[in-house]
Amino acid sequence: MSRPPVIAIDGPAGAGKGTLARRLADYYHLPHLDTGLTYRAVAHMLIAKGWPLGDAPHAVEAARLVDLGSLDKAILSAHAVGEAASKVAVLPEVRKILVDKQRAFAAQPSGAVLDGRDIGTVVCPGATIKLYVTASAEVRARRRLAEIEANDGAGDFATILADIVRRDERDMGRADSPLKPAADAHLLDTSEMDIETAFLAARALVDDALAKGSKA
Ligand code: DC
Repeated sequence: MSRPPVIAIDGPAGAGKGTLARRLADYYHLPHLDTGLTYRAVAHMLIAKGWPLGDAPHAVEAARLVDLGSLDKAILSAHAVGEAASKVAVLPEVRKILVDKQRAFAAQPSGAVLDGRDIGTVVCPGATIKLYVTASAEVRARRRLAEIEANDGAGDFATILADIVRRDERDMGRADSPLKPAADAHLLDTSEMDIETAFLAARALVDDALAKGSKA
């Protein structure tokens, strides 16, 4: 019997991996975990209690309390929480606790879709298929600005771009589990693609991997 399918999706902030992960999860009827929300939940707890983000003992306590069933996306999506999450994500003790929870999610009998920064490299190295979704920093900044404007907000392109570049540096530069493509990941550069085109390209790769998996 073939193993349950696990789809691992990694990439930098704003590359479209979240949307792609949700679309693939819907299409293949698989449960989906946005692992960024787990780091955001830790950051949010620290902020709410007024504890410093680099305070490892308190961050560990917060990480233990993270419940995958009650991650509130509306609250955790705030830009400041994402920035803070990127700072707590450098703590190896926090990563270890969250990675254990993420692996338990991936091990469900149904299979699963997980997206984040280290899914293909650390959380699920044996995933059925690994996608590394990327786009140039300029394209990601332009998309983020369009999203803000669509919600009647106002933003400044240069500030958004600088934020994105800084976040990339932190996520790619940390010592523990830095953001990078797994050696066997399929690269999907969405700079020139709309979401529909990216989804169709991802589906073709996943279908191919599933067909190979069922023959194994
Ligand atoms: O994908 P996101 O913006 O919600 O992630 C927020 C931060 O969490 C990101 O900057 C780095 C961290 N993160 C991580 O280190 N590993 C993951 N698997 C997912 C997110």
